[in-house]
Amino acid sequence: MNNIALGDLTPKTFLRDFWQKKPLLVRNAIPHFQGLLTREALIELACDEEAHSRLVVQRRGEWQLKYGPLTMQDFSRLPKKKWTLLVQDINHFLPSARDLLLKFNFIPHARLDDLMVSYAPKGGGIGPHFDSYDVFLLQGSGSRRWQISDQQDDRYIADAPLRILENFCPEQEWVLESGDMLYLPPNYAHNGIAEEDCMTYSIGFRAPSHHELATQFLVYMQDHLEIDGWYADPDLHLQSQPALISSAMLRQARTILQKVKWDCADVEKFLGVYLTEPKIHVFFNPPEHPFPQQQFEQKIKENGLQLNLKSRMLYGNNSLFFLNGDVFEVDIGVHQHLIKLANEQKICTDETFSDETKKILYQWYLSGYVEVCGGFGEP
Ligand code: SIN
Ligand code: CO
Repeated sequence: MNNIALGDLTPKTFLRDFWQKKPLLVRNAIPHFQGLLTREALIELACDEEAHSRLVVQRRGEWQLKYGPLTMQDFSRLPKKKWTLLVQDINHFLPSARDLLLKFNFIPHARLDDLMVSYAPKGGGIGPHFDSYDVFLLQGSGSRRWQISDQQDDRYIADAPLRILENFCPEQEWVLESGDMLYLPPNYAHNGIAEEDCMTYSIGFRAPSHHELATQFLVYMQDHLEIDGWYADPDLHLQSQPALISSAMLRQARTILQKVKWDCADVEKFLGVYLTEPKIHVFFNPPEHPFPQQQFEQKIKENGLQLNLKSRMLYGNNSLFFLNGDVFEVDIGVHQHLIKLANEQKICTDETFSDETKKILYQWYLSGYVEVCGGFGEP
């Protein structure tokens, strides 16, 4: 899969000079890109329970926001102009969306969040705002005006249902046509306004706050700690104030808490689990009538195997593979195939698998994490 074009930059120079540093406009990142789905298909997805969608409408200068799942009725009462539909996780539904994300393989999968697609008629947008993540805004059909600003003023309009900057001072602006792309680092103020009916593809990269990472690590450690012993005080002294937490008790508690230790291996496992954990609204459907193992093996030999579109897979340096929040420690003979599956999301037909590889792939097939390519999922 070819990387997306970055003008005259290589991925290396893009990372050195722009990534997390400054915006980059790329004309013709995908020449003649018209998008991956129609407005009607996007509306249909917005009505799906499993899709995370938002409808933003501007009426008489007032902002209105409705979260999905939406209904067809929500779309029948809209004004002609100045509204936007945004649908998250499009890569969970469209194989072509996964292929688009693979064009951004020069950024590690661990940083990838999702592909969001928006549709807006003329004048539609979600107002000037900051995002806390890196984003590539790729223009699908139609054109959109983007205004950006390096401003520090982050005061938002009070009482608006979404975060809209009160004092947005655009410093640069461009009209993006189909196939053009704008990269924005985190916390760079921006405002996108549809020039006409248009669809925008946002390839978003997540970065947890330090607080989130630390608290999630503590949650992980809670389930993985094993500490022996009981609090004991055989030499308890008589206390004149029975409600007082004594310094002896404090000392003992502190010593016990110092048994909470972690090393690099714990951090690696935590990261793999945390980064591949499915989002709250994501569920996997195991095949209803699965192939027996031998037939499954035959099928993947004929058609190849791929990750389910909703699956997230990463691996570490120590024979550890992470898939949808689970950890798998596997023998060296299995590595090569699983590494390929994680990096490319697919394994082709001409591979020969060891018994252990077949076993683990079959287990993942039964969980709905992987599937036979070409829709040959079940007999
Ligand atoms: C949009 O697609 O309308 C909004 C994307 C963004 O501003 O992050
Ligand atoms: Co934004």
